[in-house]
Amino acid sequence: MSSLLRLPGLADVHVHLREPGGAHKETFATGTAAALAGGVTTVLAMPNTTPPVTDGASLEEAARLARAGARCDYGLFLGATHANASLPEALQRRAAGLKIYINETFGPLRVESLPAVIAHMRRWRGPGPVAVHAEGLMVPAVVALAAMTGARVHVCHVSRGAELAVIRSAKERGLPVTCEVTPHHLWLTERDLPQLGPFGHMRPPLATPADRDALWANLDVVDCVATDHAPHTRAEKLGPSPPPGVPGLETMLPLLLTALHEGRLTLERLVELTHTRPRAIFGLPAQPDTWVEVDTAAEWVVPERGWHTRADWSPFAGMRVRGRVVRTWVRGAVAYEEGYVIAPPGSGRDVRADAERPS
Ligand code: DOR
Ligand code: ZN
Ligand code: ZN
Repeated sequence: MSSLLRLPGLADVHVHLREPGGAHKETFATGTAAALAGGVTTVLAMPNTTPPVTDGASLEEAARLARAGARCDYGLFLGATHANASLPEALQRRAAGLKIYINETFGPLRVESLPAVIAHMRRWRGPGPVAVHAEGLMVPAVVALAAMTGARVHVCHVSRGAELAVIRSAKERGLPVTCEVTPHHLWLTERDLPQLGPFGHMRPPLATPADRDALWANLDVVDCVATDHAPHTRAEKLGPSPPPGVPGLETMLPLLLTALHEGRLTLERLVELTHTRPRAIFGLPAQPDTWVEVDTAAEWVVPERGWHTRADWSPFAGMRVRGRVVRTWVRGAVAYEEGYVIAPPGSGRDVRADAERPS
């Protein structure tokens, strides 16, 4: 039997592409090259850039850079601040979703005041959800606010068993809450920190082996696997104050295929977690003739270097995986093949392109 398998193009709802202001870490062109090499054909870009994406002008500037650079399809998040809760509905329709950073993260974008978070949740219409960076006790807090305001809340990068238990209970009560987990929280724990050093520093931080096991044991309540691809350079990571974050676009699918091989995941669940659910939650348009060819029998060791991401390192380096992306097709054309990205900068489309048309 052939070990070649065809999967629908992956949608990664959580990536940091660093333009504007951080092109030395990543650009739309380099980050989407990494996406295609990882079988990802849609990326949703986070707003904690420099300056952050928080209004019409900054969204237009990010959209201009994305239009010129992106090699796969993309959406752009708007970021919540203490002052921008009245984002016009036309602008909301242009965005992939609203991102609220409730806990500390990379960059200054953060909303700590309860009235401001409530105002954002009350006024956000979508079509995308309110995506929140919430850790620990802030998870039940945002669940309560979803109940109170009716906002559709998507909890980013859930990393601990207790947080997932809260989300399970919210879903059982019928609340409009969804969530994602990252490959690094599924595969790495705080026990890997001595070896990883600053390359294991991210937010939320690596958790305990019991937390990691709880993510696997409760994968039925997880909606998406998303990378939180957060590229920083090697020099920055080795510097005096290493920024949090790890790249992940090129390793997510190989890791998930490894789990498939090990019987920890079914093919049906893999497709739901990386394609069907993310598309439904964020209302992403169909991508005709877009798929990924993988070799499910290819075994390889994750290398230190040689990646498409400008960060060019991986927290998974040294791990043995089974499953390799051979070819990625976007709209009927080969976009990536055997180590080479073919799709040029500018070939990606904005998932909210329809919202751009004047009505
Ligand atoms: O580790 C992280 N890195 N967590 C975040 O929330 C932000 C991200 C970044 O932008 O580097
Ligand atoms: Zn975050
Ligand atoms: Zn993030």
